[in-house]
Amino acid sequence: MIDQDTFRELKAWFSAYVKSFQSENPAHQRNFDLKEDHTKRVCDEIREFGNSLALNQEELRLAGTIALLHDIGRFEQYDRYKTFSDSRSEDHAALGIKVLSDNGVLNGLDPSTRELIFCAISNHNRAKLTESMTEKCLFFTKLLRDADKLDIWWVVTDYYQRKNEPRNAALELELPDSPEISDKICADLMQEKSAHFKYAKTLNDFKLLQWGWLYDVNFQRTFQLIRERRYLEIILKALPRSEKIRKVYSTLRSYLEKKCQSAS
Ligand SMILES: [Fe+2]
Repeated sequence: MIDQDTFRELKAWFSAYVKSFQSENPAHQRNFDLKEDHTKRVCDEIREFGNSLALNQEELRLAGTIALLHDIGRFEQYDRYKTFSDSRSEDHAALGIKVLSDNGVLNGLDPSTRELIFCAISNHNRAKLTESMTEKCLFFTKLLRDADKLDIWWVVTDYYQRKNEPRNAALELELPDSPEISDKICADLMQEKSAHFKYAKTLNDFKLLQWGWLYDVNFQRTFQLIRERRYLEIILKALPRSEKIRKVYSTLRSYLEKKCQSAS
């Protein structure tokens, strides 16, 4: 369990750790800020989420800790490799666990809580969840994955709408902005399956992949927020107009409607 003092200390450690990555280069600083701001919003998102699910104070602190530390590996990843692409560098979740272990950040916690936090972090960015996971860990991992996705959708849709501002290659995972779209990704999305990153060769493919995260959503509240915030529509506007894309969009939209309605 994580008491209030420990939670406060973890937040202080996070702030100090993030500050150690300050850069004179504005593009690099912008990317560190991006991840710090993302973490803060995931913390807010998970707290609201937890409240809506009537979690108790202890569970809220656990969820908050997982959200606070889930992307801690992003800072060293960007510092060392100047990219957020795991395939061009290394798995940022595994790197995060190494950072936490090397710094003894969770040493004051009981082993089972520490394990649960490591388990949720190491599974937050996987295409498929590890099967051997306790029910409690599975629940917190799902919570983190939904809160994380909600904010990544916010980040990318905000970015796609700022058409006149300079491009950020790190947010585009350095993929070329050429018109091609992957048939394999479209086919997976049409079958209500999220697509694998390895098929993304262009920025458009990456946008399709972001659409496909819809099929990975765990909680009904998340579906409702996706609808409310119009994430699917904003991504549609950022994609080329074509019959194929329209069809994929209408498959996603019907899936979303179905999921939102089954919530009521
Ligand atoms: Fe992450």
